[in-house]
Amino acid sequence: PAYDLIIRGGRVATTTDVFEADVAIAGEAIVAVGRGLGPAKREIDARGKLVLPGGVDSHCHIEQLSAAGIMNADTFESATTSAAFGGTTSVISFAAQHVGMQLGQVLEDYHALARRGAVIDYAFHMIIADPTKETLERDLPLLIRQGHGSIKIFMTYDRLKIDDEPLLDILVAAREGGAMLCAHAENHGIISWMVKRLLARGYSHPKYHAISHARFSEAEAFNRLIGMAALVDQPIMIFHVSTAEGAQTIRDARGQGLKVFAETCPQYLFLTADDLDKPGAEGAKWMCSPPPRRKDDQEALWKALALGDLQTISSDHAPYRFDETGKLRAGPNPNFKQVANGLPGLEMRLPLLFDAMVSKGQLGLEKFVELTATAPAKIYNLHPRKGSIAVGADADIAIWDPDRRITVTDAMMHDLAGYTPFAGRSLQGWPVTVLSRGRVIVESGKLNASPGSGRFLARSGGEAAKPTGRLVADMSPEQNFGAKLL
Ligand code: URP
Ligand code: ZN
Ligand code: ZN
Ligand code: ZN
Repeated sequence: PAYDLIIRGGRVATTTDVFEADVAIAGEAIVAVGRGLGPAKREIDARGKLVLPGGVDSHCHIEQLSAAGIMNADTFESATTSAAFGGTTSVISFAAQHVGMQLGQVLEDYHALARRGAVIDYAFHMIIADPTKETLERDLPLLIRQGHGSIKIFMTYDRLKIDDEPLLDILVAAREGGAMLCAHAENHGIISWMVKRLLARGYSHPKYHAISHARFSEAEAFNRLIGMAALVDQPIMIFHVSTAEGAQTIRDARGQGLKVFAETCPQYLFLTADDLDKPGAEGAKWMCSPPPRRKDDQEALWKALALGDLQTISSDHAPYRFDETGKLRAGPNPNFKQVANGLPGLEMRLPLLFDAMVSKGQLGLEKFVELTATAPAKIYNLHPRKGSIAVGADADIAIWDPDRRITVTDAMMHDLAGYTPFAGRSLQGWPVTVLSRGRVIVESGKLNASPGSGRFLARSGGEAAKPTGRLVADMSPEQNFGAKLL
């Protein structure tokens, strides 16, 4: 037969169209999309199903040490397995430098972990926490050329935060290497001041975590980062937007023609700060940074997604067990500052969004495909290989049963966190069959992929990371007495 596999008779969706077609696969790639294709060695009957590009989750923490030195609960094997069960076929996780670490070594270490465990394809954002001369001038340019086309920095967290001056150095280093600069942007001073003030007055319950990340700490940091990025004409990606003001700040920047991209996550669309308000330490399960906010923020974020102000929805998967190895490391009744921040989300990202966007109709199927697969693939330069059903693309495909109803339970999850913050929700629509590079890796509720079968996706910064070419007055030789600063 001409083809190895045909997915027959499903409804195929792209960012612009939904149409009935067969999808033919030879080797690892999609080689034809059309009617009446065949024959093939194997067929999958997809009548009544949706045939979608596998999800691209461009922000997940896997086998990573937190700022406080706690190892997260997953390995590459468990995290990518949970991703696959949730319909995601590519992840961009982090290679995290901490102070004193050599960046090249950091990348080698994370590559070794992923090579051993990943069941789907992966790329890395390089976290810079120690922007020494060696890091920025020796290691970074080489590592970008080796296929790590994005950098991530934190503006908060005690042992990771980058202050304004080194941030400008990193922005320029990203610019010179043609890499995207991604940021966790929150005002560190506001948060640590609030934390001290809350704890000094005895407000230590997990719910006060949400209060400590005062909402304006977000928009303030966005604004400062946007100003610095504009100064040196470097494109940026602002991670996990949680507030209406944050989204507005991004809209304003984009309205000025600045190259500012932004994401949000399911926890900011489906949870609120009230979810942290549970008896005892239970609320710690819902603690992440930034925290879930309010109902009106959720509405503002949906609007920002509709308008294109926010371009991607990632999980920010950062799993810690609700026990003494994770969230309760400081004891059964920790104060909120002692609890590791982060939620498991790789597996539930797409089912939650499918239910809201496709089954309930908020923004619709094409926008679901865009926000969860095509747009992240484009922004991080994995497209056209990833993120779309198209001839020549990798056969990374999730076949969804739009009618299947499930109630989410902790026990269903395949990651190692031991719980999901979305337990108890009833959802419609589920990814029943998942393919990675032509291999059927999830079928009938079972994984059929060996650890280490996922591959590293080398990529440059690509189109999204290219400067606009318009310098602000301060940096423009024509307007600053001829001074050449970039
Ligand atoms: O709470 C979170 N999101 N933890 C993971 C690290 C980060 O801030 O992205
Ligand atoms: Zn973050
Ligand atoms: Zn916090
Ligand atoms: Zn994160």
